[in-house]
Amino acid sequence: MAEKIRILLDEKEVAQTIERLADRISRDYEGKEIHLVCVLKGGVFFTCELAKRIHVPVTMDFMSVSSYGSGTSSSGVVKIIKDLDESIAGREVLIVEDIIDSGRTLSYLIQLLRQRNPASVRLCTMLDKPERRVVEDVVVDYVGFHIPDEFVVGYGLDYNQKYRNLPYIGVVDLNGEE
Ligand code: IMP
Ligand code: MG
Repeated sequence: MAEKIRILLDEKEVAQTIERLADRISRDYEGKEIHLVCVLKGGVFFTCELAKRIHVPVTMDFMSVSSYGSGTSSSGVVKIIKDLDESIAGREVLIVEDIIDSGRTLSYLIQLLRQRNPASVRLCTMLDKPERRVVEDVVVDYVGFHIPDEFVVGYGLDYNQKYRNLPYIGVVDLNGEE
């Protein structure tokens, strides 16, 4: 079964935005070392592209959490599938996510990581769907794009585990299944 996909943000727009975010982050963390925490699997493409463009020293770790089943709406349950390999105590942690939707995943993650005594915890997301937010206390420090309430894929984002490899961000036409 193939879904129809309409391009929302093309490869060039995404690359330019990541460049801009990386410049800002590099300035904000001048003289420090950033510990990037990539939220798998969706955050992996964005994290790599962002990391390559940051000018201050970077270390990386990966975490896998699940808040969604196989569909397109949040279950509200966040489960740790893979925890970080290293301690974050005393480190400048920057969580890198693909998208913030309800905000449940990040709200949970921030709380969890704060308990581990990092020097700081900030958030960077490639996409934000502000209309969908149910958790109001999530402060996002860096946002690539604000997008409307549509289900998107590509650049790490999936629909039933497909389309993560698309080099652009597209909207899935859920009524247009063939
Ligand atoms: P939240 O907990 O509702 O903010 O959901 C965050 C997670 O849900 C993201 O990290 C994605 O994995 C997934 N998600 C939310 N919206 C979309 C979308 O439009 N396309 C693909 N995955 C999404
Ligand atoms: Mg995610």
